[in-house]
Amino acid sequence: MNVPNHVAIIMDGNGRWATKRGLERSAGHLEGSKTLEKLAIHAMDMGVKVLSVYAFSTDNFKRSKEEVDYLMNLIIKYFNTKFDKLVKKGIKVIVSGRKEPLREDVLKAIKNIEEKTKDNDKAILNICLNYGGQEEIIDGAIKLAQDINQGLDISTFKREDFYKYLYHDLPPIDLLIRTGGEIRVSNFMLYQMSYSEFYFTNTYFPDFDKSEFNKAIFMYENRDRRFGGINDKKSS
Ligand code: FPP
Repeated sequence: MNVPNHVAIIMDGNGRWATKRGLERSAGHLEGSKTLEKLAIHAMDMGVKVLSVYAFSTDNFKRSKEEVDYLMNLIIKYFNTKFDKLVKKGIKVIVSGRKEPLREDVLKAIKNIEEKTKDNDKAILNICLNYGGQEEIIDGAIKLAQDINQGLDISTFKREDFYKYLYHDLPPIDLLIRTGGEIRVSNFMLYQMSYSEFYFTNTYFPDFDKSEFNKAIFMYENRDRRFGGINDKKSS
């Protein structure tokens, strides 16, 4: 089986999932968190090494204070206690994004989960929080400029070399999934997705269960990835 090494998910549709049921939007985020916990374990069991998820974008701060506070409190709760099963399974949790303007208690919870799971080596769950893809490239470019000022020779600098200037030095994304029906990438992991396969589904994220995930993996296995070249076997 040709399982993708790095899968990324834009977890969209929590709000609509809740509204459709006559519930507050927050109920959708809560259900989405449960889905995420199950998917992280399932992806690892299938052989996926890195799962990146878009939990909160830099632009999500435009939402109501009530919704932002709910999401931050939920994330704290998951980092501090609810992810215990996933932690025991050997998943290393890392967080990508800018620290500013995250609250102190959120920063503390990030430190806590990263510290608690730093020696786990079965798989990585990369949670993008206060994250923007263009911001990540800018922040990386600033770090690179500092190294150049310190004398780094860039005459042989290649695109692969830029990964270590990103928030974490992760492999390129093989499969990007977006739930919730929109067909866009919304400033998510732009550098890492340059050659990824895309899978868009109308399913709202809380309903994106193991069998939905398997459909995306099945689609991926049947894609012909050429990375700009030619697949001799398939074109003849
Ligand atoms: C987008 O759906 C979803 C978000 C902005 C938040 C995603 C967060 C989670 C699934 C919880 C993450 C939890 C942890 C523990 C990391 P939306 O609210 O924009 O949905 P809509 O498009 O239907 O309004």
